Amino acid sequence: MSILGIETSCDETAAAVVTDKLDIRANVVSSQIDLHRVTHGVVPEVAARAHTEKILPVIDECLRMAKLGPADLDAIAVTRGPGLITSLLVGLETAKSLSYAWGVPVIGINHIEGHVLSNLVEQKGLRGSQKLSIQKKLLPLVVLTVSGGHTELLLLRKAGQLELLGRTRDDAAGEAFDKGAKMLGLPYPGGPAISEAAAKGRADYVEFPRPMLEMDNYDFSFAGLKTALVRELEGHSKKDIAKNLSNIAASFEMAIVDTLTGKAERAIKEFKAKELWIVGGVAANKLLRRKAQSLAKKDKISLRIPSFEFCTDNAVMIAAVGAIKASQKKFDKVATLAVDPNLELQYK
Ligand code: KG4
Ligand code: ZN
Repeated sequence: MSILGIETSCDETAAAVVTDKLDIRANVVSSQIDLHRVTHGVVPEVAARAHTEKILPVIDECLRMAKLGPADLDAIAVTRGPGLITSLLVGLETAKSLSYAWGVPVIGINHIEGHVLSNLVEQKGLRGSQKLSIQKKLLPLVVLTVSGGHTELLLLRKAGQLELLGRTRDDAAGEAFDKGAKMLGLPYPGGPAISEAAAKGRADYVEFPRPMLEMDNYDFSFAGLKTALVRELEGHSKKDIAKNLSNIAASFEMAIVDTLTGKAERAIKEFKAKELWIVGGVAANKLLRRKAQSLAKKDKISLRIPSFEFCTDNAVMIAAVGAIKASQKKFDKVATLAVDPNLELQYK
């Protein structure tokens, strides 16, 4: 089977083809980062227009790379939420039109489920259909989902039954990076920009709070960290801030990463997890990856984080969920498949 995946939930126009064994045949991502850099963030109308211009050329290039024609496809998997409604609509309506025109069934996919299962694509030592399910010996496992719109801690005790342990009460971790970067005069997207600026900085320069870390729950709150950064910047001259930019960025990055790993470790201990997964755009953060590695070593658990290209938005992860659903014949009706900008994961 060959599954075409389509992803347009935010600011990446992406298409990919994977097989029913999760082998990647083609992977194309057209990023809108340069467009959104000017406005320091995504303007939905601008994103939707760019998706409209790019979606067909991206799908065309993807099928050419995969050396496949429409008749070779067994399903089209498309992100139906959560995300920006105008961006989601471009991908979904394109998928529905192609499904109708090509006579290929369509499957609506939850973007967050895509991020979670992005970890299945590159499993070492596993081949073919072994990759399609999570091995029992890894359970229970804790999943930290960290992206521009989401920060969630999930628990998987039994395959297919995700439990929500906690989530952010306000801003997501990626949002904190993006807003923090804007305040520091750094470009969009903020995560890589703060990380780069922080590389030579001292993380103990500013004592930023670790929001909710001491609370006996799995929730996060990053809005307060933003306020702490505003206060820190107010207290110093522009010259002072410029001189200490790398130190402030390093302290801010460490506060976010400490909070994320601290909560993940609490969950690992409470549920005696055997494995930690970190997925989503913020999982590309090198400091987070390093701290998670030492945590895994200390707590004697294994750690699984996708390679950089599969942390940020891509269509391979959407096609991968599509492959699993197609193997279970879980197709959607073209007439009723609709976007849902607030789509929730199905929890137990
Ligand atoms: O998963 P993603 O590509 O899109 C959403 O679903 O939101 O995540 C984008 C987010 C942005 O907030 C971006 O700043 C953050 O991921 N990000 C990073 C890094 N690369 C991307 N955050 C920290 N460090 C990075 N290296
Ligand atoms: Zn995402």
